[in-house]
Amino acid sequence: MSLSRGLLCVLALGALGAGELPILTPKPGPAPRINGPRAYGARPGRPFLYRIPSTGERPIRFSVEGLPKGLSLDPKTGIITGTTPASPGEFRLKFEARNRHGRTSRSFKLVVGERLSLTPQMGWNSWYTHYDHVTDRTIRQAADVMISSGMADFGYEFVSIDDCWARKADSKNPRHRGEARDAAGELLPNADFPDMPALTAYVHARGLKAGAYTSPGPRTCAGYTGAWRHEQQDARTIARWGFDLLKYDLCSYSKTPGVKTAEEDRAPYRLMGPILQSMPRDIVLNMCQYGRSEVWKWGAEAGGQSWRTTGDLGLEKDADLPGFYYIGFKNAEHWEYAGPGHWNDPDYILIGVVGDAFNSDNPPQAVKLTANEQYSYMSMWALMASPLFFGGDMGRLDEFTLNVLCNAEVIDVNQDLAGKQARVVRKTAEEFVLAKPLEDGSVAVGLFNLTKAPRDIACPLKDLGAADRVRMRDLWRQKDSGKAANSLRVNVGAHGVAMLRLMR
Ligand code: GLA
Repeated sequence: MSLSRGLLCVLALGALGAGELPILTPKPGPAPRINGPRAYGARPGRPFLYRIPSTGERPIRFSVEGLPKGLSLDPKTGIITGTTPASPGEFRLKFEARNRHGRTSRSFKLVVGERLSLTPQMGWNSWYTHYDHVTDRTIRQAADVMISSGMADFGYEFVSIDDCWARKADSKNPRHRGEARDAAGELLPNADFPDMPALTAYVHARGLKAGAYTSPGPRTCAGYTGAWRHEQQDARTIARWGFDLLKYDLCSYSKTPGVKTAEEDRAPYRLMGPILQSMPRDIVLNMCQYGRSEVWKWGAEAGGQSWRTTGDLGLEKDADLPGFYYIGFKNAEHWEYAGPGHWNDPDYILIGVVGDAFNSDNPPQAVKLTANEQYSYMSMWALMASPLFFGGDMGRLDEFTLNVLCNAEVIDVNQDLAGKQARVVRKTAEEFVLAKPLEDGSVAVGLFNLTKAPRDIACPLKDLGAADRVRMRDLWRQKDSGKAANSLRVNVGAHGVAMLRLMR
């Protein structure tokens, strides 16, 4: 394609209609490609676990240059374990992966200090598929599939249990009833989680991390025992069990006596943040209080690595557009508040086969989103530097869903070192345009067509923060797509997106 008086046309999903599920992500090649973050934060003197995400035909032989003392690599699995150095410092590592088709390397900055989650967390969460049916088996299966499906090779690492693992006195499920705590006040899991340390060990053995959930209130949102007046003790229990992330869900806390003002909205997080920081292992804090009291302004200072900015995506009603758009639009407004170590969380990626948030007894079903809508969903989340948590059924992953979740160049935008959330360049009834400046000086953009017919979306490059003349790369197809000067114009399908990287 050549430069044409500042306007250029590339075809992006223009031809796709509802009902078709065209795969855009090219299959990863047989040679290794290392994916995931290029920087990683860990606290000093704590257990360390990181599985180098790499696609490519197995066996792959991994090596790492610059590993600090106390950490070691298993060259066959690419899993690094050990204890982080006792004092803060930055370690410039070089990962290398090779197999019979080639070799590749990638730099990786290990920052030992107070900050965790230097890039948005990636993983899977049980809520929208399993609700109160979640068991130890579900979680083990999710860990297995995260490896066998290849998701872990793109950087997905957290396997998170949501609500309903604790006990609930009046549960209709007898396995969930019983004393909430033992005589010493220790929180007890229900009978479907017979051995939490064994469960996290199972997840860790695969190089993955385990997420837990509780509430600062007496009860979780589904009515299970929360951490109210046991905060320190429960955090210790969760750390002892071996969890690496805690979703702390406001729920019944807001109904406890005296909780009305904004200050009281913050109090439970200001309490739990420092408690988690003092634990003998790194535990990421995901604050879930639905965006109350402008959490994006103080969540980081409270000790959160991410915070939900809205209500539940699964309960968001479809209107002119599917519900995820409305959640995305709201989350996008807070772009200035995200950065390395602290991210706006617009909730999970609900594609593939998902349960019914309005009635958890209904069997999970394939989501009713068009292909274009699903590419739009993932593009928006990647550009917004959102945590990427898949919420669908890991037992029923299909090729299309994996193609949406596992595009290495789309994920690179999400995990970019600069840690900027995309700025909203335009929001009208017809168009939504996001621009995310990347660490190498290029700009990732999303041109979203909100209408039900294909349309041309044009935008001056200056509005996108890009250079006057750029090379363009279509990130979904992983293909260079010509050049543009001054302005670009793209034909985008109904409810579709063009996700481009603009390079000098
Ligand atoms: C709230 C949260 C959800 C989920 C449920 C569990 O609704 O926002 O993400 O954790 O509670 O009960």
